[in-house]
Amino acid sequence: MEMFSKAAGPIGVFDSGYGGLTVFDKILERMPAYDYIYLGDNARAPYGGRSFEVVYRFTREAVMRLFREGCQLVILACNTASAKALRTIQQCDLPRWDASRRVLGVIRPTVELMDRLSHTKHIGVVGTAGTISSGSYPLEIAKMFPHIHVEAEACPMWVPLVENNEYASPGADYFVQKYLDQLFAKDARIDTLILGCTHYPLLLDKIRKYVPAGVTLLPQGEYVAQSLEDYLKRHPEMACKLTTGGTRRFLTTESAEKFSEAASIFLHHPVEAESIRLEE
Ligand code: DGL
Repeated sequence: MEMFSKAAGPIGVFDSGYGGLTVFDKILERMPAYDYIYLGDNARAPYGGRSFEVVYRFTREAVMRLFREGCQLVILACNTASAKALRTIQQCDLPRWDASRRVLGVIRPTVELMDRLSHTKHIGVVGTAGTISSGSYPLEIAKMFPHIHVEAEACPMWVPLVENNEYASPGADYFVQKYLDQLFAKDARIDTLILGCTHYPLLLDKIRKYVPAGVTLLPQGEYVAQSLEDYLKRHPEMACKLTTGGTRRFLTTESAEKFSEAASIFLHHPVEAESIRLEE
């Protein structure tokens, strides 16, 4: 069995690709002092249409790599990975690897807010085909708030629109409107919409245009960052295992140049990336 170092280390942030940078950005804004390693599995992204087995295997490899880099805490910024891999990693892998390390996802921190934000108690969720077909959002909401009604809609064209830098173009309107119309046709009482995918904050202006007036939109970055801050306050034993040199490293399974170029769309400033390979 592999022995990971017990020494204090950076916080790891994992995503299938670039989208997790929308979450990472908000984490950095709120907690700039920690050291961070962001890992984007760009060579194998998108994860949205992949099976449980594959998303689990890829995510597990990424988490293991971040642990080897010294991370004591890893955030799965990716909804698809949180939906399809988090539970198995927490329940089966962590106890064998190192029970004192933690892997946290983005679904729970989002779901926790639902009861406070929705007045009608009718919630909508949009995400990748993988996230929606996993049923993770409705399941988590049913566990925590059984009185809340949830409708979900997969939006498989939204990630490609963002990745191809078409999110602000007139052509994007068609697919943004299409999926939102389908969702609100199922339940017109929805008053809160979870944007359950890392890429959707970039489509926020278009989404706002096509949701009925008065609907609250919930991009996750801020809530995930806030929830992480709360978590570290409640868990000083984890906080003291995190180093605070203010450094950031960016690892990608694609070419470093490609990552650096695309990352600036999400972070609005240039970054230096390192190219890596992921394996067991
Ligand atoms: N990061 C993914 C998510 O939040 C979207 C991109 C992908 O499909 O890999 O679901």
